[in-house]
Amino acid sequence: MRNPIVLARKALQIPRQAVVYADWVIVPSVKAPFADLGILQRVRVRFNSRRDLFSRAYRNASWGSQESGSGTGSELRATEVVRANLPVLLARYNIGVLLDAPCGDWNWMQHVDLSDVKYIGADVVPEVVKLNQQKHEDSNTSFFVADLTSDPLPHADAILCRDCFIHMSYQDISAMLSNFRRSGATWLLASTYPDAKKNRNQFTGRKWRPLNMQLPPFNFPLPVEMLSDNDDINPTQLAVWRLEDLPEFKSRL
Ligand SMILES: C[S@@+](CC[C@H](N)C(=O)[O-])C[C@H]1O[C@@H](n2cnc3c(N)ncnc32)[C@H](O)[C@@H]1O
Repeated sequence: MRNPIVLARKALQIPRQAVVYADWVIVPSVKAPFADLGILQRVRVRFNSRRDLFSRAYRNASWGSQESGSGTGSELRATEVVRANLPVLLARYNIGVLLDAPCGDWNWMQHVDLSDVKYIGADVVPEVVKLNQQKHEDSNTSFFVADLTSDPLPHADAILCRDCFIHMSYQDISAMLSNFRRSGATWLLASTYPDAKKNRNQFTGRKWRPLNMQLPPFNFPLPVEMLSDNDDINPTQLAVWRLEDLPEFKSRL
């Protein structure tokens, strides 16, 4: 008897590597029922570590920007407002140590006035971190490689998590939030799309979708404050929460 997976793949015209590269080749209507099978996520993560997935995104300039490997949302024109307002916000919350998780390629952050904070950047892509270290490290600024879902994090007053959850499965977001809590940080500054009416899950990877962190499955409370992130392509907000105020949520995928 023919293997049913092979038959289904042929019928749906899914290439052989579909299980491995699930979110890249399966159209959404087909992917949705598969997404409930936690096994697919595990298979995929085994074949593609987060490090591999995001290293490939940088190598292939997958996020479509000539200016920043981290994507159009990290270009200077997209970060005008956040660059001007972040230092004010950090001062207002007495942030002495900032963990930028993930830091990406530092295209815009290098233009932010960080003179009043100790800055630590973390990212899962070693090549990106190495370049940041070579170009930007000094007595007040350091970078390290970390998978934010699991690696130990240094203590900071605030964690900045900009444009990251949007690329991740619910399971990875849940793990990352638990890791942020374990670090003992007080504040979380994270991207959210208050206008999004519904969240949807996806496999972790270069693709992204808007997430409203106040809706299920996250159910974050009203932010203490929101800062317009003024990305002209995807208007979003950088919201401030106390990590201890955030409900825990678990997801199999
Ligand atoms: C769209 S970029 C945003 C970077 C930066 N926050 C910014 O605003 O420019 C997303 C970043 O998340 C990083 N990333 C994704 N998953 C990660 C993980 N599990 N641990 C650490 N970094 C991760 C990617 O390598 C990439 O640099």
